[in-house]
Amino acid sequence: MVRIAVLVSGGGTNLQALLDAQDAGGLGPGRIALVVSNRKAAYALTRAAEHGVATAVLSKVMQPDPVLYDEALLRILQENEIDLIALAGFLGIVGEKVLAAYPGRILNIHPALIPAFCGKGFYGLHVHEAVLARGCKVTGATAHLVTAGVDEGPILLQKAVDVLPGDTPEILQRRVMEQAEWLLLPRAVRMLSEQVEGEK
Ligand code: GAR
Repeated sequence: MVRIAVLVSGGGTNLQALLDAQDAGGLGPGRIALVVSNRKAAYALTRAAEHGVATAVLSKVMQPDPVLYDEALLRILQENEIDLIALAGFLGIVGEKVLAAYPGRILNIHPALIPAFCGKGFYGLHVHEAVLARGCKVTGATAHLVTAGVDEGPILLQKAVDVLPGDTPEILQRRVMEQAEWLLLPRAVRMLSEQVEGEK
C-alpha cells in the first residue's frame, strides 16, 4: 500500500476526482491517507472529512516563516507515514526539505499545456484568463512531477481541450477540469503509486 497525502487550497474538485477514483479501484496500490490544506476554510477539507480521510491545516498565518513552514509540513507528512504527495490545487510552495524527502514522489496538476501558461502567477482562473486573452484555440492540463522550479518538473501526462467561441474563464476552467484534470490526476497518481510500490 502506498500512502498518499493530497495538498489542497480550495474547492477540492481534483481531490474529489481522486477520492472517486480510489472508490472505483482506480488508484492501484495508492490510498489517500491525509489531506493537508494551507487554508482552513478550504471546502476540500469538508470533502475529505465526509470521506473519512484525516485532515490537517497548515497556513501561512499559523507559520509565516517559509523555512519553519517547510519543516512543519515535513513533520506532518512523516508522522502520517506518507509515501507520495499529490498537489491538487495547492497554491502554496513546497519547500526544499519536503522536496528532498520526496524526490520524484510529488506530483502536481496544472490547468494548461506546460510549457505554456505556467510558472509564477499562473494559477487557477488566471491561467484561463491568459489563454483567452492570447486567443488560443486549444488549451488543456498537465500532470507533472514537482521540482524546485515552479511547474518545471518532468511531464507525466497531458491532455488537450478545445477553447470555444464565447468561453469565459469560468466556462473554460470547468471544461479543462471535466475533460482533462479529473482524468489525468488519478491516472498520474496511479502511475506513480505503482512505481513507488515497486520500489518498496
Ligand atoms: C485546478 O484547476 C488546478 O489545476 C489549479 O487550481 C484549481 C483547483 O481546483 N491549480 C493550479 O493552478 C496550480 N498551478 P480544485 O480545488 O477544485 O481542485
